[in-house]
Amino acid sequence: MSVVMEARSTFDIRPLSPVLGAEVVGLDLAQTLDPATRQRVYDAFCRYQVLCFRGQRLSKDQQIAFTERFGTLERHIARNRGSDNPLVHTVSNLGPDGTPSGKVGSQEWHTDKSFRPEPSLATILHAITLPPDGGDTCFADMYAAYDALADAERAELDGVRVVHSWELSQQKHGRTATQEEIADAPPMRHPLVRTHPDTGRKCLFMGVHASHFAGRPMAEGRARLAALEAHATQQRFVYRHKWRPGDLLMWDNRCLLHRADANFDAARFARVLHRTCLRGTAPA
Ligand code: SIN
Repeated sequence: MSVVMEARSTFDIRPLSPVLGAEVVGLDLAQTLDPATRQRVYDAFCRYQVLCFRGQRLSKDQQIAFTERFGTLERHIARNRGSDNPLVHTVSNLGPDGTPSGKVGSQEWHTDKSFRPEPSLATILHAITLPPDGGDTCFADMYAAYDALADAERAELDGVRVVHSWELSQQKHGRTATQEEIADAPPMRHPLVRTHPDTGRKCLFMGVHASHFAGRPMAEGRARLAALEAHATQQRFVYRHKWRPGDLLMWDNRCLLHRADANFDAARFARVLHRTCLRGTAPA
């Protein structure tokens, strides 16, 4: 008879900043979360938007099991072909020869897979190898950014739909998406202001894949999106996570933008993290 070890609700949740984020201390995610613990974690996730579980050492299979406790795992098979476990994406600055390449991805504000019909609900990122300092991940609170807009602007933006496009976001980086990529991720329209399905709060939904306003001149929509992003990523809305060994972050893509910060010597030090994502629902 197999014995399943369950992690119980004897853990602390402590806010990490006045803006957002909380650390969870005393929970071993290698064990199956019992239903009460799972619910407490999910409630904290909805409240704090980013949870940091300290002191974890999860294998890829354990990270998958933890992710699946909260919903449906997104599959990265096409992107991770050749990986030892294609369900877990490795985020790293290592080149093909396994040494630091100097390149750090995901440095622009984004919300994961916003170009998909059902963008990611949550991302789970587990530190495997960290530089001695830096390599932070930054988060911006899209509830607070929406709430801080003037009443007239909120009223104007409610109802606007935005085209999110993998092809167009690649162009911003001087890269041409392949026909296969374009067929796999055609342009998608999502509301600029979405209502979070769990909290019922309104927030901005945009980021690097948000190209322009549907049905309006492209230049006008792009200028508005750039201005909104500048507003939404002011220091007062941002939490900067300084990674510690053993950290596992779980964040809510429905109400945050995030980005990696290359504030370390990426040509000298390795930064490797394991990422899994939970499938979300169509923004509304
Ligand atoms: C990501 O955008 O999913 C990765 C963020 C990071 O590398 O800090």
